[in-house]
Amino acid sequence: MTQTERDIEAASSIIEGKMVKDPYQKIYRTQTKNSRELFKNLSSHWENSLFIGGSADQFLNAILYGSRNLTIIDSNPLAIHYILLKLASLQQLNNKGFLAFTSWNLKEDLDLQQLLNQLESLLDKNYPYFQGNPVQFWRALFTNYSREEIAQNLFYDESIEYENCYVKEAMRFRNPYLEKRFFSYLKKVLPLANIQIINQDIQAIDTIYNLPPLDKVYLSNILLDMNLSLEAYQRFLCEKIYPLLSFNGEAVVAYLDFSHTYGADLNSLGTIDQIIDFFTEQGCRSELLLEPNIQNQIHVAFVYQKKR
Ligand SMILES: C[S@@+](CC[C@H](N)C(=O)[O-])C[C@H]1O[C@@H](n2cnc3c(N)ncnc32)[C@H](O)[C@@H]1O
Repeated sequence: MTQTERDIEAASSIIEGKMVKDPYQKIYRTQTKNSRELFKNLSSHWENSLFIGGSADQFLNAILYGSRNLTIIDSNPLAIHYILLKLASLQQLNNKGFLAFTSWNLKEDLDLQQLLNQLESLLDKNYPYFQGNPVQFWRALFTNYSREEIAQNLFYDESIEYENCYVKEAMRFRNPYLEKRFFSYLKKVLPLANIQIINQDIQAIDTIYNLPPLDKVYLSNILLDMNLSLEAYQRFLCEKIYPLLSFNGEAVVAYLDFSHTYGADLNSLGTIDQIIDFFTEQGCRSELLLEPNIQNQIHVAFVYQKKR
């Protein structure tokens, strides 16, 4: 079975509600974090960066902020197929069309097969660190399932309260690149950016040899996915991430939503207070991020800056 055949089988199982094994899991159609609030609090050095892939939104905003050498890493092959589809659709579609597609809003009239025909030449490339074929992958899904089935089953949904009509507002609120003026600028600079896409666990980042000293590292909230204790996660940061940073380089080592988790034990990592104390002791600063118009959410991002 080829990588792509395995990926199609896993995605089909997820859409049909069946269990799948790691590294396969549902994917994020858009970020649940807020680049607009966080990125303005980071330093102005973005040239060389390393990002967890996720929904692609964070690193697309980073290109807006000036990142030109990007290493994108995600352990879930399905996330990589989606990131490649999103990058191609950003180059092909206008702002309205891109939002209609990536919000997966079912009220929008969209022919996925026709869209894939438009994107095929942009997608049909070799990816040194990914053996999947995104054209074959999405062709199979768009042939076997309706847009509704894919929209409702393949993606993580932030919360069921959300009717589809709110997603776009949340996407615009959290992503400066989705503003018309920035979207057209991004379309111009995206071809100038050197983006390497890597399908592997970030814990094996030391097997990637051609990384320049990094100005930014963004780990989203993989802390919650990695089943490590805080101490073990800190060892991973010190041994594999901080040595990659340039002088004054910054790493967003965790980004946690504690709107509804205050006092609770977060994935056996301890309470939010204990996690804040831990990262503060490890030399990180806490960036408090408020989202009053998205269910009054409160997030905190932990940022480490290399000072020597
Ligand atoms: C941690 S999740 C959180 C996404 C978050 N909700 C967002 O919007 O940014 C982001 C991505 O991390 C990937 N991931 C989780 N653990 C990983 C690891 N150890 N190495 C590489 N990617 C990982 C998942 O496959 C997922 O696509």
